[in-house]
Amino acid sequence: MKQFVDANGNKVEFSANENAFGEARHVLVLCQLDNQWVLTNHTKRGLEFPGGKQEKGESIEEAAKREVFEETGGVTGELVYLGQYRVDSPEESIIKSIYFAKLEELKPQDHYLETKGPVLLQQLPDNLKEDNRFSFIMKDEILPLSLKALTAVKKGT
Ligand code: GTP
Repeated sequence: MKQFVDANGNKVEFSANENAFGEARHVLVLCQLDNQWVLTNHTKRGLEFPGGKQEKGESIEEAAKREVFEETGGVTGELVYLGQYRVDSPEESIIKSIYFAKLEELKPQDHYLETKGPVLLQQLPDNLKEDNRFSFIMKDEILPLSLKALTAVKKGT
């Protein structure tokens, strides 16, 4: 279990274990198409991996696939669980499950909800924390912890 305080002063806890904090109602999905990362350009927050809140009647995996499609037009193939985090804000606590998704294709859409649609990157920049194109949710410990979990999954550890 890892713990830190985010850019908003909220306590964040991460675990690579399944349902460490209970049933997640939110998702964050690290997406790749071929060898490129697929992000979305949120109109307010900037570049981030797609994600959002589960809707009534859908499983959390279905929510992950829907959010990826709505925010990037990406069709999710393989979906791999990487971990979970809880954000404790003064108003509410949210639990997010993190997935890695291999996309099969990007289907161009007319609208991408509150985002400007997909952005493909060969690499995530080393200085991402100082890069104001990126969303605050990409700048804390969650991204490196998720990438580490992905490497562990790929190695089969
Ligand atoms: P909507 O419900 O989609 O309108 O968004 P919201 O910003 O009102 O609330 P949300 O349920 O998405 O988030 C609740 C709180 O958690 C807010 O303080 C967010 O800034 C924060 N939050 C949401 N997602 C993340 C995240 O991935 N990382 C961090 N550090 N904070 C997050």
